[in-house]
Amino acid sequence: MSGPNTSYDPVEVAALDPQAVDDAVSAALAAASSAGTLDELRAARSAHQGDRSALALANREIGALPPSAKAEAGKRVGQARGRVAAAFAARHAELEAERDERILTEEAVDLTVVPPRRVGARHPISLVTERVEDIFVGLGWEIAEGPELESEWLNFDALNLGPDHPARQMQDTFFVEPADSSGLVLRTHTSPVQVRTMLDREPPIYVLCPGKVFRTDELDATHTPVFHQFEGLVVDEGITMAHLKGILDVFVARLFGAGTATRLRPSYFPFTEPSAEIDCQCWICSGTDASCRTCRGTGWIEVGGSGMVNRRVLTASGIDPDRYTGFAFGLGIERSLMLRHGVADMHDIVEGDVRFSTQFGMEI
Ligand code: DAH
Repeated sequence: MSGPNTSYDPVEVAALDPQAVDDAVSAALAAASSAGTLDELRAARSAHQGDRSALALANREIGALPPSAKAEAGKRVGQARGRVAAAFAARHAELEAERDERILTEEAVDLTVVPPRRVGARHPISLVTERVEDIFVGLGWEIAEGPELESEWLNFDALNLGPDHPARQMQDTFFVEPADSSGLVLRTHTSPVQVRTMLDREPPIYVLCPGKVFRTDELDATHTPVFHQFEGLVVDEGITMAHLKGILDVFVARLFGAGTATRLRPSYFPFTEPSAEIDCQCWICSGTDASCRTCRGTGWIEVGGSGMVNRRVLTASGIDPDRYTGFAFGLGIERSLMLRHGVADMHDIVEGDVRFSTQFGMEI
């Protein structure tokens, strides 16, 4: 039977040799201080403090020593392991502090930086409408509005477009219910606002009526079932076609630039007599370029209709046609925009892509 090996000298156990323990400590301290990252430190720690490390081995050897040698060896190895543990803990704290510092600077949020957010833009239809309104308000006119869902009587009959009038079919109409029941339509033009205004107030009347109108057209490069018009109406004593011409000249000069003239061309509308198409001098070539694509070399661009308010319309609207006369005009905004800015496809106007709108300026 073997008893404790009383003659066992710890110096002779290689792992417990003081020099070996010192070397293990030096190696561990060097590894701890040279670890540059927490990962490297973790690896060094398992090599120098882990179960298979020299110091763990030495620690295990202590158990086999005779009691007389245990205390001294235990103290030496314990102190060595303590130093190593402290060194690793200190380095760990250092590396952790460094990492936190780095994260704070790297992930800092600079609140003064404006995020690269896309800013929207007013739609050119709104911009043109407001510009037109500003021009007429500047002349002392008022803005009048009417509903988009309109009575058939105001949209047609009061404007001298009786049930059998051929022009009634020219404006392909969205009937809200069968034509013979509700009598409601989506207005096909802004002209019914003329009648509403005259029924509503006494002359002198100087109003501009902008708004949405609807026709049963398919959306294609040049048509859209929903579009915008503005209607002008003046009713006063002694109003003549010269006043109409004067107002149109002032208007186009302010919208398209000084010197842009207008021309009135005989035409027919049931609600005006006489009636005229409004041509605007070509703002691209002023009539000097026979191959101009905007005016097709004619020098003139048709922008709308106009005329002296028909006596029948004045009468239907409660105005005395023997005392008052008036003029009216109606212009399409989409068409003006397409011609003015060379917009080739109506889809661009209706689709609402901000890249289209931003080309017309960012006015908010
Ligand atoms: N309402 C007509 C249309 O939509 C345009 C128009 C023509 C309006 C002559 C008028 C006018 O006020 O006098 O086609």
